[in-house]
Amino acid sequence: MAMRKKFYIETLGCAMNVRDSEHIVAELTQKEGYEPTETLEEADLILINTCSVREKPVNKLFSEIGVFNKRKKEGAKIGVCGCTASHLGEEIIKRAPFVDFVLGARNVSKITKVLHTPKAVEVDIDYDESQYAFADFRSSPYKAYVNISIGCDKQCTFCIVPHTRGEEVSIPAELIVSEARRAARRGAKEIFLLGQNVNNYGRRFSGEHPRMNFTDLLKAVSEIEEVERIRFTSPHPLHMDDAFLQEFATNPKICKSMHMPLQSGSTRILKAMKRGYTKEWFLDRAAKLREMVPDVSISTDIIVAFPGETDEDFEDTMDVLERVRFEQVFSFKYSPRPLTPAQNYADQIPDEIGSERLSRLQARHGEILDEMKADRIGQVHEVYFEELRPGGMVAGRSDNNMLIQVEGSEELLGKTVPVKITEAGRTSHRGAVVA
Ligand code: SAH
Ligand code: F3S
Repeated sequence: MAMRKKFYIETLGCAMNVRDSEHIVAELTQKEGYEPTETLEEADLILINTCSVREKPVNKLFSEIGVFNKRKKEGAKIGVCGCTASHLGEEIIKRAPFVDFVLGARNVSKITKVLHTPKAVEVDIDYDESQYAFADFRSSPYKAYVNISIGCDKQCTFCIVPHTRGEEVSIPAELIVSEARRAARRGAKEIFLLGQNVNNYGRRFSGEHPRMNFTDLLKAVSEIEEVERIRFTSPHPLHMDDAFLQEFATNPKICKSMHMPLQSGSTRILKAMKRGYTKEWFLDRAAKLREMVPDVSISTDIIVAFPGETDEDFEDTMDVLERVRFEQVFSFKYSPRPLTPAQNYADQIPDEIGSERLSRLQARHGEILDEMKADRIGQVHEVYFEELRPGGMVAGRSDNNMLIQVEGSEELLGKTVPVKITEAGRTSHRGAVVA
């Protein structure tokens, strides 16, 4: 039998990109006869699935593909996929002529086409793949990512995503439910629903479909018997209405961790960002959530030094940090992006001020995490084990998304077991299985 062709893939960025890469892998292995390799030099096809949310990864891209080009074996192809592909398009082939094709974040289903079209550039953001049936592949047997929408209809003034992933289109609920059911029957007891703005689900479908909002979709997925846990990312604080919080709080299959991307604590800056909510609304939703679900963990995204951010605005962000006491914070210095309105705003903040604010925010959040540690010791959580770790450890997540490791081996994988926390860290904890 002839040797199968091999591909190497590197994935940057968000969960959506991780899922897009899984789709690419599925199409290549099942329709094109490829198999994966971890060794670049051995690959017949080298892919990089890019992120363009902040500037740094874009600059890194060209040096990285330059390295691919030097190390690749004779005749191997190089493809650039994802958001930077969407945003730069044919520019990529102009700057790096050795690139064989460019495949945008909304054109993943065309991977089998670009592969056979020299110098192909597929970056149409109006392209509709909301009903495309991808071949099936999941990188984890225990957890299944399921897309529920493509694109984003918000116009946050700092964000390039609507320009790289296009308008928001919801995937029909029956496709989502059948995909979740198939994955769960194969052992993925945890279903992770993905979209740029999940709780805006159901506003637009590409064909005639029964109307369904996100709360109803959560109910439908939770009715699948084999599904034990449901997670989702990212919801938008603006659409966290009472019905949604109620479903989140009372549905036992929905994991009790919520991502609430704050971006800024200043109502004035939120307005300039076009986020659609105020500091008070955000605090009200977070307080309501903590009241309804005492065990909930709340994570967030914060941008510091957005154009025009004064010391006072930044103090508002610090104030929200103090009051909500997030269990996890992803914080970023504002990065001006092409195609976005905020890049042209007056009062761009000097880099040193941005760095200072970022360090202050991160330092204070580190202290908050340290303050939380004492409470964690002795707690018992149901942990779903997913991964072997070096040193005879197995890692999994509690219902409220804490990363917990215990001593153990394969037999714990795919099981949900009560674990008592014995040592608490900032981002991960150690525990012992409760006999
Ligand atoms: N709707 C998606 C947002 C994707 S971008 C989600 O909620 O996951 C992920 C995060 O990157 C955003 O929440 C924001 O905090 C950050 N981000 C986006 N654009 C940025 C920019 N221009 N500069 C700095 N951070 C940015
Ligand atoms: Fe970006 Fe705002 Fe959508 S952060 S992805 S435009 S919700």
